[in-house]
Amino acid sequence: MLDRIKEEMHLYEKKVLKALESEGRKSTPEKVLELQGLTIKAVMSAAGSLASKNIIEVHKDVEEVISLSNDGEAYAQEGLPERRILNVLKQDKSIHMKDLSSKSGIEPSEVKIAIGWLLRKGWATLDKGEVTISSSGEAAPEGSDEKFLTELIRQELILQKLSPDFQEGYGLLKQRKGLLKVNKKPNYTLEVTSLGKELLEGGIKIREEATQITHDQLKSGRWMNLHYRAYDINAEHPESFAGKTHPLQRTIEEIRRIFLNLGFTESRGTILESAFWNFDCLFQPQDHAAREMQDTFYIRTPQDTLLPHEDLVKKVKRAHEDGGETGSEGWKYQWDPDVARQSVLRTHTTCVSARFLNENKPPLKMFSVGKVFRRETITYKHLPEFHQVEGIVADKSINFRNLLGILKEFYHQLGFQVRFRPAYFPYTYLSTECEIYLPEKESWIELGGAGMFRPEVLEPLGVDTPVAAFGLGIERLAMIRLGIKDIRMLYQSDIGWLRELAVTHRLEWEEI
Ligand code: DAH
Repeated sequence: MLDRIKEEMHLYEKKVLKALESEGRKSTPEKVLELQGLTIKAVMSAAGSLASKNIIEVHKDVEEVISLSNDGEAYAQEGLPERRILNVLKQDKSIHMKDLSSKSGIEPSEVKIAIGWLLRKGWATLDKGEVTISSSGEAAPEGSDEKFLTELIRQELILQKLSPDFQEGYGLLKQRKGLLKVNKKPNYTLEVTSLGKELLEGGIKIREEATQITHDQLKSGRWMNLHYRAYDINAEHPESFAGKTHPLQRTIEEIRRIFLNLGFTESRGTILESAFWNFDCLFQPQDHAAREMQDTFYIRTPQDTLLPHEDLVKKVKRAHEDGGETGSEGWKYQWDPDVARQSVLRTHTTCVSARFLNENKPPLKMFSVGKVFRRETITYKHLPEFHQVEGIVADKSINFRNLLGILKEFYHQLGFQVRFRPAYFPYTYLSTECEIYLPEKESWIELGGAGMFRPEVLEPLGVDTPVAAFGLGIERLAMIRLGIKDIRMLYQSDIGWLRELAVTHRLEWEEI
């Protein structure tokens, strides 16, 4: 332990410690500097780091240094004004106040103060404007204030160390404004602690340390014999924060990893979507409430989109109007292709699943993650744009129980317990809503929808196997996992919060 401390000590720290040893383990930075030929900066910085390691103690006490102001210096040279008047009085004995200035050469503004001190010191009396010298004025030896002034011309004095004979003089002069300057000056004492003493007793060798290696030293191999200081891995360091993935993105990556590991193919759609893929091919009637302007963002440019191939459009139209070949009666209204052409910001990612089924043949497992948009008022749990993870599993043997199994597995892998409630969506039957359990709140919260796509959806797309489908919100999930109470936090870029978050859940993502 002691050896390790010694190894990590800087050359200057050793020098300071050695100097203190020779000074009886206690001294001033100035003395150390003198003994070791270091600069005051080097001594103080070495002392600071020795103190942080508890090898020495640094005591600081503040001294007040007394010196003369410009006025004070003039007084010290020419004498106090009362002394100068006294000198004139010694000849004239008695002078009228109004003549004092001209006779003594003292500024009229100072005469009053000078008379005050003459009386106070008992050097003169004042009667009807006449100033008359007294007997003690005749004798008047140099006062303690005058001695103090004279001393201050020679050297600055330290208040805390004033000898008793100067204390009175200081007291008197302090009463007169602007004569003295008092400056605070810190004084340091360095004292070896018991740890420092132990180190010294073990012996401290002062060796030059290599801080730079030259080309020659490398070439000749001399670098191997140089002495290097050990790293102090416990040294104080500025706090630095690791760069990391945003927690929302991290959750998204985790979710993708889960589905990729389950063998799902990943697909993507576009944020700008046609009403056809967002609503119509999902058997959502054209007068459905979710299509209203107050729920969906309609886009002005481009206002219209191209409909897909005619055959599909025809089949979707029939599914809506009378059920067509789907075995359904449809919604019984006249389907309008112009309504289907409208462009929208997708309100869910289910349109990605519809497009995927149009282009791929079962068996298949597909998922996609993306942003969706709804006209919501922003609150602690609502945002007008958020992410969903959407998925489908299509195969002859797939049924509703498999769907529940997939969802259970998914939430389980994220560490949640899930339960299912009956629900309604225009495009599924059976349909369900997933809720996960929040132990802290002892309550369940709804996180997504799922179901088996209806024949009205599948038949026009030419899919002849059952399709299990789900669409789950991601932000609320992230919120729960991060323990935040306001969903807006995820988009606030609160750097303090982000810095404090642990760097976790990266797992083997790079390998995928
Ligand atoms: N699209 C639904 C929503 O945004 C969620 C959903 C429900 C997706 C049922 C599905 C599904 O794929 O089958 O709330």
